[in-house]
Amino acid sequence: MSLFAKKSLDQMLAQAADGEKGLKRTLGAGNLIALGIGAIIGAGLFVRTAAAAGEAAGPAVTLSFIVAAIGCAFAGLCYAEFAAMIPIAGSAYAYSYVTMGELIAWIIGWALIMEYALGAATVSIAWSEYLNKLLGGGIPYEWCHSPFESFTDTAGVLHKGIINAPALLILLLLTLLLIKGTQESAMVNAIIVFVKVAIVIIFIAIGWHFIKPENHSPYLIPENTAAVKDSAGKVIADYSGWNKHGWGGVLGGAAIVFFAFIGFDAVSTAAQEAKNPKRDMPIGILGSLVICTVLYILFGHVLTGVANWKDFVDPEKGREASVAYAISTYMHGYGWLATAVTVAILAGFSSVILVMLMGQSRIFYTMSNDGLIPKAFGVLHPKFKTPYKANWILFLFVGAFAAFVPGSIAGDLTSFGTLFAFVLVSLGVWILRVKSPHIQRPFKTPMAPVVSVLGAVICLAMIVGLDKRTLMVAFGWMVIGLIVYFSYSKKNSKLRNPSDILPKASDFE
Ligand code: ALA
Repeated sequence: MSLFAKKSLDQMLAQAADGEKGLKRTLGAGNLIALGIGAIIGAGLFVRTAAAAGEAAGPAVTLSFIVAAIGCAFAGLCYAEFAAMIPIAGSAYAYSYVTMGELIAWIIGWALIMEYALGAATVSIAWSEYLNKLLGGGIPYEWCHSPFESFTDTAGVLHKGIINAPALLILLLLTLLLIKGTQESAMVNAIIVFVKVAIVIIFIAIGWHFIKPENHSPYLIPENTAAVKDSAGKVIADYSGWNKHGWGGVLGGAAIVFFAFIGFDAVSTAAQEAKNPKRDMPIGILGSLVICTVLYILFGHVLTGVANWKDFVDPEKGREASVAYAISTYMHGYGWLATAVTVAILAGFSSVILVMLMGQSRIFYTMSNDGLIPKAFGVLHPKFKTPYKANWILFLFVGAFAAFVPGSIAGDLTSFGTLFAFVLVSLGVWILRVKSPHIQRPFKTPMAPVVSVLGAVICLAMIVGLDKRTLMVAFGWMVIGLIVYFSYSKKNSKLRNPSDILPKASDFE
């Protein structure tokens, strides 16, 4: 059987129809939008908005959000078509199994581990930093940093990280919640989403009155802007590069804020738990994307209006904890809002981690049902009907990264995995339109060839723009994936073992 052997759509749908044994269909359109917003609003908005403004785009970070959103919208439309047509768990992995065959599906599944598992690890490390900030730095350095990090305090004492315990703790709590049940997790997620969206809206509404028009002028960073140095004379921001000022800076800013959009595709991983996937999948994916884009643009407008974008470069000013800085420095009388923002950030990070962990466990579940990874990943809890073994294995894997690896390394790999999936999903929609034009498509991507190609090209361009170290590590990860495929998955694939072959859709009629 060829490496590009494909699962038939019938087999896929039969899997989804096997409701008795499978995941429970408990999620409605509202839950799915909340799931999307839960995964989307996090470190990207609260940390990277200021970084993009200070490093590349200035007040035009609002335009950067629009550029990044357009790239995501193309991919989002393609995801929506697939998720409505193939409503089973597994997202991009499952779609490529039908369109491009087993080997590509395996590669994409392997890349998705970078998006979801490393994404969860990255955000849990950021969660640990903010918790420490909220507690006034009360957690000893050794217990909230990886062994690869160290710092010398003012008394000249060297502190070395041992383990990032708070990051592990939040992962443990969220793993337990996920095992308890999808509906319970969705409910906690909905509460968190409410809190974080409320805080974002409150910040926008109150901050609007503190906008100083002079902070928005000029709107783009001028070409001749002088480099910024720290107190030791080291250059920390240089605006001479093509993507560091003017319209080029808007694009540079888009690459930085792209991280803020990662997560809308997580909605598609829950397709098998949606009550009415044909209608609700497109609503969940595109709805959460639109809501977040609007909030992001308004948030960027207010943040760069309240504080000057140059404040976000200066280490003495608002480079870290930028939102709390802007509030406490320029919005007098609203100190409580600075604390509320920090709490919302912690809550926001938790829901991002929750949805990432859930997405990853669902992808493992589907890959295991296909025989590509061991059976343990597909075992459902007898009472809660959740893939609890996958959740525990995932906790160990993500926990190891969160506890012992610095956050910066995991962050860019997350972007790689996501962009890679976006490219294949965008192309996959077009391939399936050409090969199987008659399949029923409850949602159709408008102008499919144009949207597919543009989606793939824009995402590919962003991959090329990632730094060399990230690309090398990602390449290494993919090579390991191929070794696993040829030594285990290919031999155990159910598609290749007719005795285990899945039932047909007609068996369930
Ligand atoms: N979009 C998610 C965040 O910003 C990954 O944290």
